[in-house]
Amino acid sequence: MARETWATRAGFILAAAGSAVGLGNIWRFPWVTAENGGSAFLVVYLGIVLLVGVPGLLGEFVVGRRGKKSPVGALRDLSGSRLWGLWGVFYVVTAIALISFYSVVGGWILRYFGESALGLVGARPAYFAAPGQYFGGVAAGIDALAFHLLFLGLTALVVFGGVRRGIELGTKVMMPAVLVLLVGLAVWAGTRPGAAEAYAFYLRFDLATVRANFFDVLGPAAGQALFTLSLGAGTMITYASYIDEDRSLPFDGTVIAVLNTLVGVLAGLVVFPLLFSLGVDPAQTAPGPGALFVGLAGAFAQLPAGTLVATAFFGVVVLAALSSSISMLEIPVSFLVDEYGLTRRRAVAVVTGAVVVTGGICAINPTIWGTAVFGFVAGPLVDTLLTAGLAAVLVFVGWVMGRDAVSEFRSGAGDLAAGLATPWLLGAGVALPVFLFFTLLTNFGVDASLGFWPTVAVAVVAGGAAFAGLRTDRSLV
Ligand code: TRP
Repeated sequence: MARETWATRAGFILAAAGSAVGLGNIWRFPWVTAENGGSAFLVVYLGIVLLVGVPGLLGEFVVGRRGKKSPVGALRDLSGSRLWGLWGVFYVVTAIALISFYSVVGGWILRYFGESALGLVGARPAYFAAPGQYFGGVAAGIDALAFHLLFLGLTALVVFGGVRRGIELGTKVMMPAVLVLLVGLAVWAGTRPGAAEAYAFYLRFDLATVRANFFDVLGPAAGQALFTLSLGAGTMITYASYIDEDRSLPFDGTVIAVLNTLVGVLAGLVVFPLLFSLGVDPAQTAPGPGALFVGLAGAFAQLPAGTLVATAFFGVVVLAALSSSISMLEIPVSFLVDEYGLTRRRAVAVVTGAVVVTGGICAINPTIWGTAVFGFVAGPLVDTLLTAGLAAVLVFVGWVMGRDAVSEFRSGAGDLAAGLATPWLLGAGVALPVFLFFTLLTNFGVDASLGFWPTVAVAVVAGGAAFAGLRTDRSLV
């Protein structure tokens, strides 16, 4: 059977943007921003999106479009080495880890959406009265499990429909709806008292603060940039593998990054004015996974027409989350279809069955070896897997594909973009892996014990050693 492809030009951009735009923008971004000092974080984050995110995105695109396979097949076939194919399995595992916690959060959102929508016709939403207590009651355990299954079921249904009738059609409806609703909410939020204060916290550019906090916010900003652009898990490799035309990858990548950033900034323009209007200082409120739910839900309760606003808001988030979760499920599905010849139907069933269990564990959230599973998977585990995952793709692009990567980058690109191919390859193959490796070390707290510059040195030396190793193994290079 011929491999599936996108039906339209817009199909790929919308699906990839749909993957990027998700809980990372609406749920994670405002809180990571608040936790790291607002505007100072924003500046560093935007810089990383531009300098690391976009070139990284193009790295995954080049591998995907050239390989025309799931990450496993693409890395193996392009290198002719089974070891790289084995490394591809790492992305399948990462995808399962991602969707395991993501569908739990998706379940919370579904629940809040349902509760708000019911509130339109019946009693006020229960979470209005006691937001903290309500969230505590539904965040983990049987409730969370049930809604995780519901969210996972919806995700599976779309992926089941296939590339064109499922993913492409679904994201074509979801993405515009998200944008329109968010713009509406942001405009309305700007009329709330406290909006001015919120904008000052969020948008005021202040060089002194940026300089004082630069290194502290580097790690979180990098983690957020990778997560929000869906990088490091092979998602973008997989989506690009369904492209069958010579469209400009640099153009598409830029559009996707801009759309994604726009939604993140818009989400901040909704969330911060609402919080400030209630006198909640986001820098003071304890952040964390429940923060959005508790803080915002409390805000909705005090608004005129709060039930309606809440329904619209959680509706947006459900759509954004779904168009991302389908891109996670698609990775293992495409792996089973490409490598083992399973039908899409059967592959979706197998993967969904596995995530019922792994996501179920995240939903129940037991404490194992003194660590709560959900927080571990959603935080350090995913951060580490994504950072390592992207670093490996870029090493592959720079050192295994080399010239092929340049010609793939150029294929379909305009003159301006094509001229960027060589600088891009140098950045992607050398500078970015070192940067990502450094981030990995900070994730493990190495910079805290070694000091900043020694950690940089370790990253450079280890990076160099890795390249040297790659070059001596003739089967790889
Ligand atoms: N980018 C999505 C978000 O911001 C999440 C996501 C989807 C993702 N696919 C991914 C993150 C692959 C990392 C890797 O919500």
